[in-house]
Amino acid sequence: MDYFEINGPCKLHGKVKISGAKNSSLPIIASTLLSKNGIKITNVPNVKDINTLLDLMEDIGSTFTMNKNQVYINNENINSYKADYNIVKKLRASILLLGPLLARFNKCDISFPGGCAIGTRPVDLHLQALESMGATFKIKNGYIYGAAPNGLFGSEFEFSKKTVGGTENALMAASLAKGKTTLKNVALEPEIEQLCNFLVEGGIEINGIGTNTLEVNGSGGKLLNFKSCEIIPDRIEAGTFLCAAGITNSSITLENINANHIQSVINKLKEVGFTFSFGENSLTINKAKKLSGCNIETLEHPGFPTDLQAQFMALCLNCEGESNVKENLFENRFMHISELNRMGADITVNGNVAHIIGPKNLTGANVMASDLRASSALIIGALIAKGTTNVDRIYHLDRGYENFEEKLSKLGVKISRLRK
Ligand code: UD1
Repeated sequence: MDYFEINGPCKLHGKVKISGAKNSSLPIIASTLLSKNGIKITNVPNVKDINTLLDLMEDIGSTFTMNKNQVYINNENINSYKADYNIVKKLRASILLLGPLLARFNKCDISFPGGCAIGTRPVDLHLQALESMGATFKIKNGYIYGAAPNGLFGSEFEFSKKTVGGTENALMAASLAKGKTTLKNVALEPEIEQLCNFLVEGGIEINGIGTNTLEVNGSGGKLLNFKSCEIIPDRIEAGTFLCAAGITNSSITLENINANHIQSVINKLKEVGFTFSFGENSLTINKAKKLSGCNIETLEHPGFPTDLQAQFMALCLNCEGESNVKENLFENRFMHISELNRMGADITVNGNVAHIIGPKNLTGANVMASDLRASSALIIGALIAKGTTNVDRIYHLDRGYENFEEKLSKLGVKISRLRK
């Protein structure tokens, strides 16, 4: 099993190119099921989650090539609407095949994605949205069996809670439904906007892109004709590198980013004491005179992203005074805390609030990654720890960060991937 050995403390310097967004690539790849034409998708990160989704697509009849960061996919010969447990269990986002398979075949059998290290993560809202369009579901033997014998039809549906995946599934299904679907209280993440724009280029009229309410004029079963697509930059990877620069009080430049997508993170880093210089597609974080503790609370976009909570908490370890981190989205997303405390951090938890006292002199330790973003938080902590930190179970990290250790090495971090 691979692990990272990191020798700290260190300073970062130089430039890092941010990869394409994993969380945008996943729904874009899933939505290609709505078409029969071959589609080129560029700026796709070569990470495990993407490989797993492509394996799942291949399992139902897709053909694809992945060359560096370019995926060419063809769904002409899809011959199954069953997403098998053995692949789905590796990737929660497999649930994104639900909407497109149902829309294309009026049927789908998808293995239930089940629990997840960061919480229970139900899919009730995905199902409710599709039910409003005429689908019915049975859950049996760990599978979701969906059917829409008369096809999907336009509906009006309001999400009782904002959900990224639920919005994506509803959008993809509504694209082939008969008539107009109005989706209210949809998620506002940039990945949703990219999916909407892709569907529009494929021939679907969507009104309200970027707002709380989306109106989708479905094609009535006619398959779409997609153009090629370039995936937007990964805002979570960008935020992770900002936290890495932040904890070491270093100045680095991020290239291939959209600063508008991480405004909430930039604002919090300004509160800590950092200043920024903005380029056209780049951003430089400048050293702070002093790092001050601050409070964050995770919220749906455009609020502070839950996917950067762990990394920002690690940054708070080097800030003076108290910081409070409130996690509002997922109930079990504090697993990095016990590991950071093993390195000498002073973090206590009260319900969904973590209380951090800094700055602390961290020391290297053996720590274990528990989920994707927790992995990067431990690495960020290791950047200020004196001595060697070994981060175990980095297969979690490999799900979503492309060439992470190469990128950190280029920035001056002493990090090696080793195997035991
Ligand atoms: C997506 C992201 C994930 C991120 C999360 C929140 C992808 C592939 N993953 O996950 O990295 O952490 O958004 O920004 O894009 N919920 C329900 N019922 C549902 C669906 C969701 O109660 O049917 C709840 C969830 O438990 C959670 C909240 O809604 O509390 C938001 O979850 P959601 O936006 O759906 O997250 P994902 O799409 O799974």
